[in-house]
Amino acid sequence: MMDTNTMFDPATYREVRKPLLEARTLPSWCYTSDAFYKREVERVFLRTWSFAGRADEIPNAGDYLTVDMPGGSVVLIRGRDGAVRAFANTCRHRGVQLLSEEKGNCRAITCPYHSWVYGLDGRLMGAPNMEKTKFDKDAFGLVPLRLDSWAGFLFVNFSDSGPTLLEQLGDLPEQLGPYNHDDMVCVKKVDYHVACNWKFLLENALESYHTGTVHRTTLGDQQGVDLETKGDWETIFLPGDESVSVLPGETAPLPRIKGIHGRPAEGTYFTCVYPSTQFACATDSMWWLRIYPKGPHRTHINFGFCFPKESAALPDFWEKAKPYFKRWQLGLEEDNVISEAQHRGAMSEKHRQGPFSYRERAVHRIANWLLDRVVDAPAESGRRAAARNRAGSISARPRGD
Ligand code: FES
Ligand SMILES: [Fe+2]
Repeated sequence: MMDTNTMFDPATYREVRKPLLEARTLPSWCYTSDAFYKREVERVFLRTWSFAGRADEIPNAGDYLTVDMPGGSVVLIRGRDGAVRAFANTCRHRGVQLLSEEKGNCRAITCPYHSWVYGLDGRLMGAPNMEKTKFDKDAFGLVPLRLDSWAGFLFVNFSDSGPTLLEQLGDLPEQLGPYNHDDMVCVKKVDYHVACNWKFLLENALESYHTGTVHRTTLGDQQGVDLETKGDWETIFLPGDESVSVLPGETAPLPRIKGIHGRPAEGTYFTCVYPSTQFACATDSMWWLRIYPKGPHRTHINFGFCFPKESAALPDFWEKAKPYFKRWQLGLEEDNVISEAQHRGAMSEKHRQGPFSYRERAVHRIANWLLDRVVDAPAESGRRAAARNRAGSISARPRGD
C-alpha cells in the first residue's frame, strides 16, 4: 500500500515528468486510490471552473438545471432579471437537497422538508414557524457559487478566488470562435454511469491511437494532429472535409455551420477543457462529454449534442439528426467498454507504468497538468507538506512538459 507521503512526493513521478517519448504513464494508484482522488477533488475540482450546462437549456425565468458536481449538487437557475445564477443545492435550514429533477421550472425554490422558500435570486423569502427564532433571514439565502459563461457554455467554480473563466480558457475562445457556438442550441443529453476512473475517459477522448483498434468496425482509424494551446485546455485536430459527426462513408445530412472559417472549417477539434470536459467541435455540430468523478472507481458521463439554431429549426431536423446520434452512441459505448477494461487492469497488483506512443501527447500532458496541481511542491516533504495541506494552500508550478 502506497503511503501518502510517497504518493504526493514529486520524486515519485519523475518518470511521468520526462519528455513524451521517454516518459511513463501515471502509476495505477492515481486511478484507484481514495487518497489520490481526495486530493484531486480538493485541489482541482473545488478550485477550477467546470463546465455545467448550456444557457439555452434554461431560456426563461425560473428555468433550472441541477448538476451533480464533485463538490456537490448545484442549481443553475435563471432569474426574473434574465441572469443565470448558480447555488449550492442545499437548504440553509437543515441541509436537504432542494431540487432533485435534472431540469425544470419553478416560481420559487421551496424546500421539500419544512417549506422554507427561496427566490430565484437565492434570497430566503419565507421560513414558516421561525418567528420565535433569533436569526437574520437575509443572512440565510442560498450559498452562491461563481458562475461565468463563454459562447453559451456555463461554467461553475466552487472557489471564490482564483483566475476568471477567460483566464482559465486561455486561447480557446480564439481558436474555437469560428464554430459560432453562441448560435447553437442543445438538442439532446444522454447520461452514462461507467465503472472506471474519470481520467481514463478523459485520456481516451484525447488520443486517436486507439481508434483503429477500438473503433475498427465503426469509426475507423482517425489520425489526429496535436495543436498548441495556451491556457487550461488541450486539443487534437482531425483534418477532413466530411463532418466526423456521422459514420465514415455517410454524408452528413445537416448543413455546415454558417460563417465557419479558418482551421475550424477544415476539420474537427477534439478538446479537453480542464479539469474534465471534452468539447468536440465539428463543421456542422458540437457535442460535449462532461466527465464527473463519483469516487476513484465510478464516473458519471453526461453527453450533450448541440446544433446551430437554424439546423435545429428545420422541419425534418430529428430525422436528419439520427445518423449523428447513432455515430456518437456507437463511439462512446465502445470507449466506455475499453475504459472499464483499463480500470480493471489498473486494479492488478502487477500493474506497471507503461511508455507512450507519439500519438499520445495529450495523455502525457493531462497527466502532467494534474501532477502540477496534486503533488506537493518539490522542496516539501513529510511534515511540512502535511501542515501545508491542512492549511489548504495550492501549488502553482509550470506545466509539466
Ligand atoms: S431542511 Fe429545508 S426547510 Fe428544513
Ligand atoms: Fe474512442
